[in-house]
Amino acid sequence: MPAYSAADDALTTKLVTFYEHLKDSSVPSHQATVLLFEPSNGVLKAVLDGSVITAKRTAAVSAIATKLLMPAFAEVLCILGAGVQAYSHYDIFTELFTFKEVRIWNRTKEKAVKFAGSVSGPVRVCSSAREAVTGADVIVTVTMATTPILFGDWVKPGAHINAVGASRPDWRELDDELMKNSVLFVDSRDAALTESGDVILSGAEIFAELGEVLKGTKPALPEKTTVFKSLGMAVEDTVAAKFVYDAWSAGN
Ligand SMILES: NC(=O)c1ccc[n+]([C@@H]2O[C@H](COP(=O)([O-])OP(=O)(O)OC[C@H]3O[C@@H](n4cnc5c(N)ncnc54)[C@H](OP(=O)(O)O)[C@@H]3O)[C@@H](O)[C@H]2O)c1
Repeated sequence: MPAYSAADDALTTKLVTFYEHLKDSSVPSHQATVLLFEPSNGVLKAVLDGSVITAKRTAAVSAIATKLLMPAFAEVLCILGAGVQAYSHYDIFTELFTFKEVRIWNRTKEKAVKFAGSVSGPVRVCSSAREAVTGADVIVTVTMATTPILFGDWVKPGAHINAVGASRPDWRELDDELMKNSVLFVDSRDAALTESGDVILSGAEIFAELGEVLKGTKPALPEKTTVFKSLGMAVEDTVAAKFVYDAWSAGN
């Protein structure tokens, strides 16, 4: 994933591998390395841990979407999945927002129990996705599911969903009803229309890119049920890598 940001004066490439997670394997399903280059002459300046950057930048972008799109007085956060992204989303969401309750559901319940036992605050482990989702104001889907795990029928009107998994054109996390009856935001229109099974197979209409909302050219509509379909952009890694490099250079 190569990208250049003139605004940040940063040039990077992320090399990423993506494997099905084998049971009891300690090797993460996603592994990545970010190479940071000097834009003026191409000299390699740093090799960074891309797995940490991927975990944190993805959660950071979901947090920005949530800040703009979640309903007023959001009280309940629900996370579906208990892998790397579940942890990074929990960390940033509980740091930035004040939820009264955090719930988790995972296909393998023991991992949800382990999650609840290892994070800093109280988390309710749910036995079904439906139980976890019912009444939630903000929902994060961070699974490697290939068929829907979240159904429109279960979702509280006005809730905000960050759909982070299902990054292949034939993979799904959300059903057609939810996709079609929500206001759909994406990180990149081009990527969503070629990579996201939830967008392509549902035929849902894209309302805006998150960047358009940030720039003020499209409204956020937090009173509606909203979905942010995240696929990840190379420039997110570029900005994050430059941030880490600058902090390291400054001795922080
Ligand atoms: N949008 C972005 O920028 C971005 C960036 C990075 C990753 N992602 C995506 O985010 C998702 C999570 O990544 P991760 O790094 O957290 O992966 P991970 O650490 O391997 O965790 C995967 C999670 O998915 C669950 N899962 C696997 N297959 C499932 C299925 N068929 N049905 C329901 N749950 C299933 C696993 O449950 P078990 O514990 O039962 O195995 C586990 O909780 C992936 O789809 C990944 O491609 C998106």
